[in-house]
Amino acid sequence: MDRFIIRGGKPLRGVIEIGGAKNAALPIMAATLLSSGVNRICRVPDMKDVRTMYGLLRHMGAQIIEGGSAEIDTGRINKYEAPYELVKTMRASVLVLGPLLARYGQARVSLPGGCAIGARPIDLHLAGLQKMGSKIELEAGYVIAKAKRLKGAVIHFDNPTVTGTENLIMAASIAKGNTVLENAAMEPEVKDLADCLVSMGAKIYGAGTSIIEIEGVDCLAPIDNYAIIPDRIQIATFMTIAGITGGKITIKGCSLEHLEAVSEKLREAGLQIEQTTEGIKVKGGREIIARDIKTMPYPGFPTDMQAQFMALMSVARGTSIIRENIFENRFMHVAELKRMGADINVDGNVATVRGVKNLKGAPVMATDLRASASLVMAALRAEGESVIHRIYHLDRGYERMDEKLIALGANIKRVSD
Ligand code: EPZ
Repeated sequence: MDRFIIRGGKPLRGVIEIGGAKNAALPIMAATLLSSGVNRICRVPDMKDVRTMYGLLRHMGAQIIEGGSAEIDTGRINKYEAPYELVKTMRASVLVLGPLLARYGQARVSLPGGCAIGARPIDLHLAGLQKMGSKIELEAGYVIAKAKRLKGAVIHFDNPTVTGTENLIMAASIAKGNTVLENAAMEPEVKDLADCLVSMGAKIYGAGTSIIEIEGVDCLAPIDNYAIIPDRIQIATFMTIAGITGGKITIKGCSLEHLEAVSEKLREAGLQIEQTTEGIKVKGGREIIARDIKTMPYPGFPTDMQAQFMALMSVARGTSIIRENIFENRFMHVAELKRMGADINVDGNVATVRGVKNLKGAPVMATDLRASASLVMAALRAEGESVIHRIYHLDRGYERMDEKLIALGANIKRVSD
């Protein structure tokens, strides 16, 4: 297992580029199952979860040429299942359920099981598919779904679910008749999937809002060079790194679109953020000012930036109240930040962060994807040396993070056991 050795205390300066969004790439890769032919997708990020999705599609019979511009040939799909060995490493494998059911009338997908940040049920996915006429059984930890042909339906989500919305948009795109999704997730990655499906011939209206209408069509053409949107969470993570190290970072070729809630909070915390033709320029302020956040579905403050923002608040002037409203156990980074000298108290889904003058390097352990980003940021700020164990969590959702940080002047080394 890899670990990072980081000596902190240096302001990071320079220019970096951020690739395609993991959480748009995964549903779009699953959507290739709706067509039958060679799909070409651009700006595909190179990270572990994407490689896991390649493996899952190959398991089903897809022929794949990996790369920033990937080719996924789904002309010879001959297995309609997502086995536990693959799903347990990546919950987003559940995204093949809707496409398999719609295109092949059957799917056997392992229940994802929980993960570090919560129980992560898929009851809303299954309820929606049942409303569209699918027969769903649970057997030995697997979802066994069957449907002659899915039928359009009106589906109301009790609460917005990103992959639930994505699964049902894909299922409805080639169902018989019209589907309406109410209280749908509005994340930019949902809109990106819908835009990609429309480029394949789907008829989808309202993606990016809470009401999405889909007119089922008979078949979809393969994806023809659709470019995935940039990864807003990686962008926001590097903006926050400029803040916590007091440095100056330009993120090339990106816009603040989709980052309104985060950039507003970062500006209030003292960062200078400017959109230029070159990209987003971020300068850390002389001091960091404590601000409160509460995570909400888009367009609110994203839960995927909560851990990183907490690292920033741990060295702010004042006290910050951080309320996590999306997942029931997304404070796994707190104990590790406290090992570095952070002053944080957790009561239920609320963390109270009292800013300290500085953090001290220490050996810590990554527990989940965004927690690991938070620990890297804290280590970049801390005096002395930190060792961050189980970096495989970070590699799931960040593209060559250590190489980018070295290019910005960080003293970081990846060590493999
Ligand atoms: C997506 O997960 C993202 N993953 C997550 O990003 C992100 O944190 C999350 O959305 C929230 O924005 C991908 O897109 C691959 P949800 P998802 O369904 O779809 C409950 C990262 O760091 N719920 O929107 O699994 C659920 O328990 C990852 O990149 C049900 O109760 O999240 C949670 O409390 C982490 N029943 C809430 O809804 C369901 O059937 C939102 O979950 C589905 C969800």
